[in-house]
Amino acid sequence: MLLDGKKLAKKMEEDLKNEVKELAEKNIKPKLVTVSTVHDDSSYSYIKSQKKVAQRIGIDFELLEIKPDQTFDVISELNQNENVHGIMLAHPVADDLDELKILKSIVPEKDVEGRSPENLGLLMLGKPSFLPCTAEAVVKILDEYGIDTKGKNITIVGRSTTVGKPLSMILLLRNYNATITVCHTGTRDLVEHTKMADIVIVAAGKAGLINANHLKEGSIVVDVGINFVNGKLVGDVDFESVKEMVNAITPVPGGVGPVTTTLLMKHVVDSAKGILSK
Ligand SMILES: NC(=O)c1ccc[n+]([C@@H]2O[C@H](COP(=O)([O-])OP(=O)(O)OC[C@H]3O[C@@H](n4cnc5c(N)ncnc54)[C@H](OP(=O)(O)O)[C@@H]3O)[C@@H](O)[C@H]2O)c1
Repeated sequence: MLLDGKKLAKKMEEDLKNEVKELAEKNIKPKLVTVSTVHDDSSYSYIKSQKKVAQRIGIDFELLEIKPDQTFDVISELNQNENVHGIMLAHPVADDLDELKILKSIVPEKDVEGRSPENLGLLMLGKPSFLPCTAEAVVKILDEYGIDTKGKNITIVGRSTTVGKPLSMILLLRNYNATITVCHTGTRDLVEHTKMADIVIVAAGKAGLINANHLKEGSIVVDVGINFVNGKLVGDVDFESVKEMVNAITPVPGGVGPVTTTLLMKHVVDSAKGILSK
């Protein structure tokens, strides 16, 4: 079975369009502001795709390209601006800036990427607020296709703060109740851990890292990786070598990526709705 993220994202988009219409009746237009402190090609291509999705849904999108020394003043203004519902800090940030310090300065209610220490801490405490979008996208896909994680052995390859680590925390929540193994470059025998897993989630950023030798028959694979090989976008899993042996797999492109962007938009809409209930 192909775990079609593009199709899921389309469905989510339709729901969000309706929610945006309901907000419009109350004179609220959700707005996302992306703050960029340095030019970076891959970050810009992500920002461009965010803008397109936001426009389709009816969310206001603004990109602020600022000088590094303006960062904290700009964030402070956006924190206070009632017409701004989501603040996204483009990654990477300028060399002389401390990314963590900037993330700390964004009010948690507008941290729609779920990257602030407060939102990550809440996840750690089992009381999640905004979740990191990519990690949430993985469980959203599993949920959509009715893949039960309870009691399953799940191996995650990658321990970044963006994907692997928060994902392990989400899957430990009681409603997911999985047994988690997290692998990284210090893992002695990767195959040992991926081969015993019912579900393998790969977020390493290494094209073709996982192939048929790494998996057991009938496993489920979620490929988060984004790599460019000879100008072609590929994941971390050698799709052709594993497709016949797995029960289900996400494609790249068209898997986790589109769901991630749409979840970011969902968070902006949720934030706008939060202002309604204040
Ligand atoms: N689809 C989406 O929406 C989306 C969103 C975000 C990221 N991504 C993609 O997902 C991938 C991971 O992103 P990230 O931000 O998590 O990357 P990252 O910060 O570079 O982290 C990569 C992780 O993979 C581990 N790793 C690398 N090579 C490995 C190997 N050979 N064996 C075992 N572990 C290995 C690293 O281990 P160490 O910790 O030991 O270095 C690290 O923990 C990238 O391709 C990125 O482009 C996709």
